Amino acid sequence: MCGIVGYTGFQDAYSVVINGLRRLEYRGYDSAGIVLDGQGAFSMAKTKGKVDDLVAVSEEMKGKATVGMGHTRWATHGVPSDRNSHPHLSNNGKIALVHNGIIENYDTIKIMLTEKGFTFQSETDTEVLVNLIQYFMDLNPETDFPSAVRYALNEVYGAYAITVMHDDFPGLLVVGRLGSPLAIGLGENEFFIASDASPFVEFTKEAIYLEEGHMATISMEHGVDIRSIADNARIEPAIQELKFSLEQIEKGGYEHFMLKEIFEQPKSVHDTMRGRLLVDTGIIKMAGIFDHLERFNNAGRIIIIACGTSWHAGLIGEYLIEEFARINVEVEYASEFRYRNPIISEKDVVIAISQSGETADTMAALKLAKERGAFIYGICNVVDSSIARITDAGSYTHAGPEIGVASTKAFTAQLTVLSMIALKLGKHNGTLGNAEFMSLISELDALPNKIEETLENTHEIVKEISKDFVNSQNFLYLGRGYNYPSALEGALKLKEISYIHAEGYPAAEMKHGPIALIDENMPIVIIAPKKGHYDKIVSNVQEIKARKGKVIAVVNKGDVQVSSMSDYVIEIPETSECFSPIIAALPLQLLAYYIAVYRGANVDQPRNLAKSVTVE
Ligand code: M6R
Repeated sequence: MCGIVGYTGFQDAYSVVINGLRRLEYRGYDSAGIVLDGQGAFSMAKTKGKVDDLVAVSEEMKGKATVGMGHTRWATHGVPSDRNSHPHLSNNGKIALVHNGIIENYDTIKIMLTEKGFTFQSETDTEVLVNLIQYFMDLNPETDFPSAVRYALNEVYGAYAITVMHDDFPGLLVVGRLGSPLAIGLGENEFFIASDASPFVEFTKEAIYLEEGHMATISMEHGVDIRSIADNARIEPAIQELKFSLEQIEKGGYEHFMLKEIFEQPKSVHDTMRGRLLVDTGIIKMAGIFDHLERFNNAGRIIIIACGTSWHAGLIGEYLIEEFARINVEVEYASEFRYRNPIISEKDVVIAISQSGETADTMAALKLAKERGAFIYGICNVVDSSIARITDAGSYTHAGPEIGVASTKAFTAQLTVLSMIALKLGKHNGTLGNAEFMSLISELDALPNKIEETLENTHEIVKEISKDFVNSQNFLYLGRGYNYPSALEGALKLKEISYIHAEGYPAAEMKHGPIALIDENMPIVIIAPKKGHYDKIVSNVQEIKARKGKVIAVVNKGDVQVSSMSDYVIEIPETSECFSPIIAALPLQLLAYYIAVYRGANVDQPRNLAKSVTVE
């Protein structure tokens, strides 16, 4: 989604803002813009396209100012175009604003402003907001700039993170937030603003994450002054220490972030378990769960809410928790849950899974569950993200920053957390015996090595196989039990980065429709580990081969039956059935990645997609 970068200090604002925008490119966008504090007039450039296109039209702005802000826009209101790009200026040209989110009542405000003589150059909701600020300043010349911003924000509803500059108040940046994230970096004699901390982590390790409904004025003279948007009450800033480094968000020699993140999985899964899984003593130590074991075990049911890949992790979580802890679990798309008036009781535990911790639908579903008295638990990757902060308790996945739009290491880290939760709950409530628990945790502990082995042994094979499917138009992914969600996830990975149509199905469902699609042109990925309905899968493969489908089988090392019938074989190491989706995910990620690369697609920033979906 949109990205915001702002700066005030002693460095060249143009360079800080442009480099910062590049760090936010992963969020997904279709146009970009920058504005710098000028002496008497802003200097501004904006364009449809990427940050490189912006640089091409703005390079002469370099070295001219120490205050400025920029934006990458992911189109919502109005097509991607130069005109609709941010920043937007007020009619008098004195106020510049960048915005992430949606102003839902922009049309009524636009009508009001039009009646007062305001005109609009773009189709955006943002241009309405910047003119509303001017309107409040015009209405009463005594009104200072931050107050006018506050008055305007009190008139709008929807979701926003904004940064505003006024030409008559050089060096002052006003920011506000409701529903979209915004962080303020505190450097030595400089301040940074950004949608997340990645644009400024190279300059400072201290940040303030602006809370919902708060705004701040930021200047070298007065520092950071945080207020409530509703009543202007002063708020004490909570300064956080950033726990990631610049190296973690750079490509480190890989061609794409996605490939780097795929290969980081031995480490990310290990990091997810570090300090939590104590195999020698037979303990799973997860503060978030430990303090609330009774709440979980007495829950009427657990409802897992999430979107996309995180929803697929949730489905596997359902299988894990029901199998080991025998607690009833339902998995819901956050976007459906929030609008269907669900039955939620105070006994329910709602688990939200989100890599970014900012997904608008997941956030709204959580708020609804909270209002209705459920206990809410978060599984997030981004520390201090909005979802992480509103939950009653939670566990971070600790996968490290995930930049590629296609989720890879966050998915396997989510599965690792869900596995630990299920085993912990099962052990505590006695539904999982000690011997099985001990055997499962040592298997879990062995996963980082097996992930490493899988990546080493499948990389080249998958790369070769991918070449044969560059021109495919459709794909089917089939799996059973724990690997039915693996099939869904494999299909999602392929479609989002290669733009090949792909469907995931439980293998047994094939007969109820998809089998009609099978002919010699249909590639079918079958996930067929030994443990987990193997015999049934064998029959499914026979049915496919009888119709000449092309089978790419993901099987355990040494497999004979499925392998002998398949056109392509990818061997993965054996593990417990319940952990097999973690291993199976790896060749499926590689397959999607290489097919997309061979098709010349933009793997890290696929068209139309955003990393952090902060609008519904
Ligand atoms: O940040 P979240 O986990 O809440 O994001 C949810 C989905 O938007 C996300 O998983 C999306 O499906 C990815 N592009 C999948 O690779």
